[in-house]
Amino acid sequence: MTRAAARLAPEGHAVGVDLSSRMIELARERAAELPNVRFLQADAQVHPFPRHSFDVVISRHGAMFFGDAKAAFANLAAAVRPGGRLVLLTWQPSVRNEWVSTFRRIFSAGREAPASPPAPNPSSLGDPDQVRELLTAAGFTGVRSTGLSERMFFGRDVEDAAEFVEAQFGWMTRELPGEVQARVRADLRVDLAAHLGEHGVRYDSAAWLVEAST
Ligand SMILES: C[S@@+](CC[C@H](N)C(=O)[O-])C[C@H]1O[C@@H](n2cnc3c(N)ncnc32)[C@H](O)[C@@H]1O
Repeated sequence: MTRAAARLAPEGHAVGVDLSSRMIELARERAAELPNVRFLQADAQVHPFPRHSFDVVISRHGAMFFGDAKAAFANLAAAVRPGGRLVLLTWQPSVRNEWVSTFRRIFSAGREAPASPPAPNPSSLGDPDQVRELLTAAGFTGVRSTGLSERMFFGRDVEDAAEFVEAQFGWMTRELPGEVQARVRADLRVDLAAHLGEHGVRYDSAAWLVEAST
């Protein structure tokens, strides 16, 4: 996303922020040829960005992980110049995301799904009314959410996709006997194969494009 922003703003510059040193390292490698990009390992919720210094803040599936969303968005609002913009991509609730419901069903292996580990909720910004209230309270105006439905890419082929999906959902079967885990792995591959097409393994997904101004 940072590279895309930098290419759209050749006269300006783009700053990519992530908590994860690995994500920042990878992003730096990939952006090596772009002169107007820099990366910052920081917590976007509290980092003291220079006040009113950015035209636009964008986040693709990152902002929903804020622990204190109101304080975090107030911090970002202060970083954007008056008349600037905030643009977020956030997940719609999981029932509207075929990939979430399918992988949860497969990894539940016929039992009730185990409780999620205590972790931030990827659908925490899934309700447009709550998001409007939240962003307005944080200092943004004109908040609007547009629903987007796209086929989401999981891998080039079945094994590539299985590796990615098992890394996300594998915790659900960790306590189960080996033969049940083997059945889950086989069921997953059958489902992935049924979703393999010309453009790789893809499932339906639903997100909100949230836009606001300062
Ligand atoms: C699903 S990934 C999306 C990454 C990237 N935006 C993209 O589109 O590929 C979510 C990212 O948000 C980062 N993140 C979560 N909370 C954050 C925070 N408070 N400040 C900065 N980054 C955060 C995580 O480290 C993770 O890399």
